[in-house]
Amino acid sequence: PSVDISSDNSRITARLPTGESVEVLLYGATVISWKNGNGAENLWLSEKAVLDGSKAVRGGIPVVFPVFGPPPKDHATSALPQHGFARNNRWEYLGKSSSESAPLSKSGAGDDTVKLDFGLYSSALPEDARKKWPYDFGLVYSVTLGREGLQTMMNVRNEGKEPFEFQVLMHTYLKVSDISKTTITGLLSAPYIDKVLNATAHTESNHAISITGEVDRVYHSLKQSTTSVLEDGKPRYDVVRDNLDDTVLWNPWTEKAAGMGDFYPKDGFKHMVCVEVGAVNSWTKLDGGESWEGGQLIKSLL
Ligand code: BG6
Repeated sequence: PSVDISSDNSRITARLPTGESVEVLLYGATVISWKNGNGAENLWLSEKAVLDGSKAVRGGIPVVFPVFGPPPKDHATSALPQHGFARNNRWEYLGKSSSESAPLSKSGAGDDTVKLDFGLYSSALPEDARKKWPYDFGLVYSVTLGREGLQTMMNVRNEGKEPFEFQVLMHTYLKVSDISKTTITGLLSAPYIDKVLNATAHTESNHAISITGEVDRVYHSLKQSTTSVLEDGKPRYDVVRDNLDDTVLWNPWTEKAAGMGDFYPKDGFKHMVCVEVGAVNSWTKLDGGESWEGGQLIKSLL
């Protein structure tokens, strides 16, 4: 048995012989589904997510680049929309490769993993986005499905002569069965900016964080590489960062969810938590001709 890949004009789906699958929309290179071999879905996707390429996707794994959040006024990204342009432009499918390589392969028997590559280049950006951030760049986003998890890696290359600064983040909506039984670990002692509390600075004092209201925090300068999501005290996901020091924890809760037209069902916040790995607390500078890579491995522990 081999990896099954199907595609149409708007999306690529890959399925391993053991049943695991991933679905990626070319719009934003947004992963919109990631299932275990038994069919269990790991990503939350709003029932009213817009998938026709007219709006960033509410759910799955939108890619944030080159700015996180509302752009600062005094920066080269200041004319861009919130979270930049990567999530609302169409990427190119560059092809697939299969391998038996670590860390995602279990048996070493072949066809254990499949890697899908997507590209976004300044030369292919619509004029409007290009004007708002006039740098020459190439992004290659690799989505690797394995039996043990899903890996997403971003490669950023400065194709021009001028240096540029960027932020990047993988805005993963993890599906949970009940937020009241969900806890987050791995952030103890980490500094964070609380965006709900007027962007004030704090230090995490909980080993296990419960979510009982709106949460919007930027944990930064993280020393541990793994953030875990537990349900009923049992491990559900491990999110392992690679060359990324920050993690945003987000749940919109009742009011913010009510205010988002594409968020449905309205109590969907009870079944999701965003654990968003990135480099967003400062800027990563890339000189002309240089490249940078970072990403995550998410393990589904069901
Ligand atoms: C999070 C931000 O990453 O994304 C939140 O920290 C924001 O402040 C959320 O509300 C969703 O953003 P958007 O643009 O997809 O509605």
